[in-house]
Amino acid sequence: MSYDFDAIIDRRNTACEKWDMLEQIFGTDDVLPFWVADMDFAAAPGIAAAVQARACHPVYGYHKKEESFFAAAMDWEKRRHGWALERSWVVNTPGVVASLSAAVLAFTAPGDKIVIQPPVYPPFFTCVTRNGRQLVENPLVERGGRWEMDLAGLERKLDPAVKLLILCSPHNPVGRVWTRDELLALGELCLRHSVTILADEIHCDLVFSGHRHTPFATLGPEFARASVTFFSPSKTFNIAGTYTSLAALPDPDKRKRYGDLLAALDINEGNLFGLTAAEAAYNTGENWLDSLLPYLEANADLLADFVRREMPGVKVEKPEGTYLAWLDFRAIFADHAALKQFLIRDAKVGLSDGLAFGRQGEGFARFNFACPRALLEEGLTRIAAAFKKRR
Ligand SMILES: Cc1ncc(COP(=O)(O)O)c(C=O)c1O
Repeated sequence: MSYDFDAIIDRRNTACEKWDMLEQIFGTDDVLPFWVADMDFAAAPGIAAAVQARACHPVYGYHKKEESFFAAAMDWEKRRHGWALERSWVVNTPGVVASLSAAVLAFTAPGDKIVIQPPVYPPFFTCVTRNGRQLVENPLVERGGRWEMDLAGLERKLDPAVKLLILCSPHNPVGRVWTRDELLALGELCLRHSVTILADEIHCDLVFSGHRHTPFATLGPEFARASVTFFSPSKTFNIAGTYTSLAALPDPDKRKRYGDLLAALDINEGNLFGLTAAEAAYNTGENWLDSLLPYLEANADLLADFVRREMPGVKVEKPEGTYLAWLDFRAIFADHAALKQFLIRDAKVGLSDGLAFGRQGEGFARFNFACPRALLEEGLTRIAAAFKKRR
């Protein structure tokens, strides 16, 4: 079956964050949006069919979590990533961000330290600070145009108050798909200092040719026990609005603490349409995903080539995974506010503000290229044209 990723779907007036919140986010409706991380593509047809079939039954009462949902998720991890999960390790959670915050509460006490590696997904900051824990930033470093983890810096920061490290794998926004060796080096360091790794693997299925996602827990049994992994079909299959995710806890003690916390917050119930969509995604969406990935990768190539050719001074690396590109405008804009103004007012595009990903994002913007190619070309052309006018 072939899928039409070129189709332009009007998402306006569907209470859609990306297209219906432009005024609130950018101060104007007059921008083409490439910000929040969902895709402008229709989800796989099997998902819509399952949701519609369930919606045909007119009673939407409390929902029982079916074993078939867990089986679908575990089969997927095994088939796509070679990770053989045990059923007892896995719990259903209401979205990855909520799952991370719950883990912060379950595994740390107020005042404990938690490491993140910015620039990184904004809720990594807030799930620490809003829960009264201390944030320790260990920024990524750029070596020869490639973003890497700063393990020497990390080692210096790992004092006994550090209890957790939140890993973004693959990494939003820099698009790195961490290699097995990189993860091993990180894991060994964390194990040596008794630091638990929260592995956010929400982008694990969005990996381009030549790269392979390594689930952190597959590094070995000791790494599995020292970590909690979060995954979800939401990014992979464009069903983020359904807030349905999973957490895997191979260590029985962590499982008990996390399970108790979910129960204490009463967030261990499943969402009817979320579970329906997720199970259908894992069971029927593989062919769709295998068609989507080359389309996304062609968009990534197009974006990187275009930026290098038409936007002298702007730096970008083709991402290894995710559908996000991290654009470096520092050589052109000394002032971040001027960059923002240029993108919104002159180019009329709505990218994610680099500073949302930490102070390391000053002079950067994140471009979400999960959209029909014509929209991507329009967005890039707008930026290039605005640069020409500026010269
Ligand atoms: C690294 C990362 N984690 C989590 C999320 C969101 O997860 P959820 O919508 O399930 O809370 C995103 C969305 O962009 C993300 O990039």
